Amino acid sequence: MSISTPFCRLSRIVTPWKTVGNLRCLSTQSRRPFPVIKDELNGCEESVKKGENLVNELRSLVNVCHEGGGPKGMERHVKVNKKVFVRERINRILDKDTEFWELGTTAGLGLEYGDVPCGGSVCGVGIINGTQVMIMANDGTVKGGTFYPITITKQLRIQEIAAQNRLPTLQIVDTGGAFLPLQADIFLRGGRGFANQALMSSQGIQQVALVSGLCTAGGAYAPTMSDVAIITHKIGNIYLGGPPLVKAATGEVISGEELGGATMHCSVSGITDHFAQNEEESFEITRDVIASLNLPESGHLEDVNPPLYNEQGLLQLAGSDWLQKSDVYSVIARIVDGSRFLEFKKMFGGNLICGFSYIMGRPVGILANSGPITGADAQKGGHFVQLCDNRDIPILFLQNSNSSEENSLSVDATVLKERAKLIQCLSVVRVPKVTLNLTGAYGDENYTMCGPSFQPRFYLMWPGARIHPAELAIQQAAAAAKKAAREAAKAAAAASENKPPAKAPRKPLSKFSFEPGSAQWAASRGICDEIVNPVDTRRVLAKALQVSMLNHVPLRDTRGQHRSVIRM
Ligand code: COA
Repeated sequence: MSISTPFCRLSRIVTPWKTVGNLRCLSTQSRRPFPVIKDELNGCEESVKKGENLVNELRSLVNVCHEGGGPKGMERHVKVNKKVFVRERINRILDKDTEFWELGTTAGLGLEYGDVPCGGSVCGVGIINGTQVMIMANDGTVKGGTFYPITITKQLRIQEIAAQNRLPTLQIVDTGGAFLPLQADIFLRGGRGFANQALMSSQGIQQVALVSGLCTAGGAYAPTMSDVAIITHKIGNIYLGGPPLVKAATGEVISGEELGGATMHCSVSGITDHFAQNEEESFEITRDVIASLNLPESGHLEDVNPPLYNEQGLLQLAGSDWLQKSDVYSVIARIVDGSRFLEFKKMFGGNLICGFSYIMGRPVGILANSGPITGADAQKGGHFVQLCDNRDIPILFLQNSNSSEENSLSVDATVLKERAKLIQCLSVVRVPKVTLNLTGAYGDENYTMCGPSFQPRFYLMWPGARIHPAELAIQQAAAAAKKAAREAAKAAAAASENKPPAKAPRKPLSKFSFEPGSAQWAASRGICDEIVNPVDTRRVLAKALQVSMLNHVPLRDTRGQHRSVIRM
């Protein structure tokens, strides 16, 4: 319900809120609450330049991933096999003029076994017939869409996100199964994906599969374990062992279509439920199937009350090694509605800012640190997350630190105890949490500031941010590796005086080498869900909050579920 006029009968309920999905949003016509943050950002050319370089580097990594298997893979997939490229498939299935929020875009680059653009699977949240859907789509141009270990890691995390946010899942399957040279690290973990399909289905989270290529070996289970499956004639095949294997094992010569084609599966095995003559028709059927799931429409994001300050300032802030307190306010001022923020316990605890605000009309509780969490910070944070939980407001953590030594080593037992209480409070809240690492999270800040282990619905990083589970351990390991390399070189030089020259070192399999702990390194290994271009921060966070709250059951509807807030 929204106010249309200030003159209304007293008996009418007057509220500044309107309901979007399950979420109460601030009506555009209501008064703007909360004080405006006074921005104190001074221009720093060096940081702006650094921020721009980071964004350019991110763009080039994303471009590499968008090209999938490159010209050779594309030629084989599109020209020879006459199949539609995975990104085009997704585009044609999504509602027109809606965005696809891609996750794990740069997963798979710079790995010890080479580069696997997008981890071989394009994943993200899109809108189909008005419904938000999690999409997982094999990229057939990357080694025939085979599963690498990173593909498993990425898809399991994507399923986790889908399960936590109760998003129906669409798998577009086009895979040669396990990438055989690395099969030892694939088969056992890979089965978890099928268990997840069954578990999600049992919780009413719909599982849909579109078979747009080969589903061989383990890949055959993806459509078979789905609630509904669509298959495309002469393009989709499902079998555990393909024709060459059948011939080798039994001597029988059989075509892929006879063994596991669309006609066979729609009329004999019953594994697939909808028959599409061609890919174009398969996209239409998929859209219809999603429409039949009987799920609520998600609504669109509207930016009606933008921040007062230019988002370009975020580039400068992202180019800084870490942010002082005044800079953290500058970040908040650039991402929240009207740059308005109600700070909580402003005079208590020096390194943690807590407060309420809105992002694109959605209420949010923000915790942002500026250095190590002190005992008082931890008490304030623990109190604040309980308030958010009690009021049913999702929580945004902004991680920002530059030093591990001070953080991890100079902590007395009292601080340890207070931090443990904060960790306990944030672990058990029932509202969704989203974490954005602005500059760095070191040591136990990955706990106190809701790092990946604490189930944020999304763990995001700015491109210059770093995540170090154990900064010192990494530094020590790097120093030890350098020392060992120096000694090995010395020994080799001494030994080679009387011996023929040693063989040239093996060429690395990857074109990329990311610094351990960097955002690029974390994203390539699926530790972070996406690297965020700083100027897009507001929109990405709004999307993350929208997705997180879409299927959240409001606490006010679960009577008796409220807990008292305990002052820490
Ligand atoms: N493991 C490792 N590499 C594989 C692979 C697998 N399971 N399947 C395909 N590849 C590689 C191919 O060797 C080729 O590599 P190259 O680019 O270095 O030449 C590349 O992926 C593309 O394969 P190709 O056969 O040329 O392309 P395609 O699009 O015509 O066919 C498949 C793709 C997946 C249909 C086909 O390769 C195939 O049937 N693969 C075997 C599937 C299988 O039996 N898997 C069992 C896994 S348990």
